[in-house]
Amino acid sequence: MTGNKNNIYFDNAATSWPKPETVYHSAEIHMRSAFGNPGRSGHTRTLAADRLIYRVREKTADFFNIADPARIAFTLNATDALNMAIKGLLEKGDHVLYTAMEHNAVLRPLTRLKTEGIIETTMIPCSDEGDPDLVFLENAYRPSTRLLIINHASNVVGTIVPIKRMIESAHQRGVPALVDTAQSAGCIKIDIQADDIDLLAFTGHKSLLGPTGTGGLYVRPGLDLKPLREGGTGSQSELDLQPENMPERLEAGTLNSTGLAGLLAGIDYIEDRGLDNIHDQEKKIRAYLYERLLDIKGITVFGPPETDRCTCVVSFNLGDTDCGSLGHILENRYGIFCRTGLHCAPYAHRTIGTFPAGTVRISPGIFTKTDDIDYFIKALKEIATLTGI
Ligand SMILES: Cc1ncc(COP(=O)(O)O)c(C=O)c1O
Repeated sequence: MTGNKNNIYFDNAATSWPKPETVYHSAEIHMRSAFGNPGRSGHTRTLAADRLIYRVREKTADFFNIADPARIAFTLNATDALNMAIKGLLEKGDHVLYTAMEHNAVLRPLTRLKTEGIIETTMIPCSDEGDPDLVFLENAYRPSTRLLIINHASNVVGTIVPIKRMIESAHQRGVPALVDTAQSAGCIKIDIQADDIDLLAFTGHKSLLGPTGTGGLYVRPGLDLKPLREGGTGSQSELDLQPENMPERLEAGTLNSTGLAGLLAGIDYIEDRGLDNIHDQEKKIRAYLYERLLDIKGITVFGPPETDRCTCVVSFNLGDTDCGSLGHILENRYGIFCRTGLHCAPYAHRTIGTFPAGTVRISPGIFTKTDDIDYFIKALKEIATLTGI
């Protein structure tokens, strides 16, 4: 079957592809025609760029049910937003709780602050399906706990965690919660007000279908973060320090308006198709993939079998085959692109028992068809036969 089909992209959890046509188009049109720098000069081109940024901010606020769009700062990606939240909020002596499913975008900034003697941390263990131990959480707070960090959906196994319950638990102790929605925004409904989220980091280039270089951080009114970057905002230039008001407080330097034009089209596309419809379709694809994988001799599939509590991500290993070699064969023999290894989440792999080798991760996207899955399963069966599993 080698070469029957090519270019099957199963790495949407890393970045989504293809994008809707309107995303390419909007970014291109913006770059060609709207050449003003938003918030800077007073001429009509700048004002047009300003209006675009305003529309993206309003659209994003509406998408997450955020009452005041000015509480969103645009960032380069989720990593940037998470760094902004962690380094902007925490002070010497603070204690932080985080789950074992966190990405290095959370783990590494925390480890740096801990190593420098600034903060203390406690990791909340998770089950081998990626569910945080809520009893452990209840007993882990200290008087100095200043932040709870939750990865909303695992990038390794797709498990969606009960953020509302965890945030309620944190709020009972006056602790704010930072939710990493890199894997959930654009897949499942997120409602800042209903879930009572204090800080939300999102990325534009995954399920929100925008270009790379886009993302953002929502900051609840009343929470003041020290800026991660300082510099020009185009406003209040007479101040020696970064302005106090949002979003300028966290947005120094020229924004990625081309990327944000694409992100606006990405969110528009999701709204036109309906987030619930997209989620239903992804659930069907994941269930189909999960079930067909279980057919393969020698396979171990990780993550919950129930599709209802997962995003469209599945991890597996095939016998003792090195996952990197498997990814290589999938690409070079069958034109299938997936991610292998630790997926920047070493403690998630320790939790599911796949550290240090990792897994093969399949993350279909909104344009994946069941016959793409069929082709992949056939390829995997062929590999299993060839390798004698
Ligand atoms: C759970 C999680 N958090 C954070 C990130 C970082 O996202 P970005 O690459 O947009 O910075 C990722 C990326 O894969 C992720 O899966």
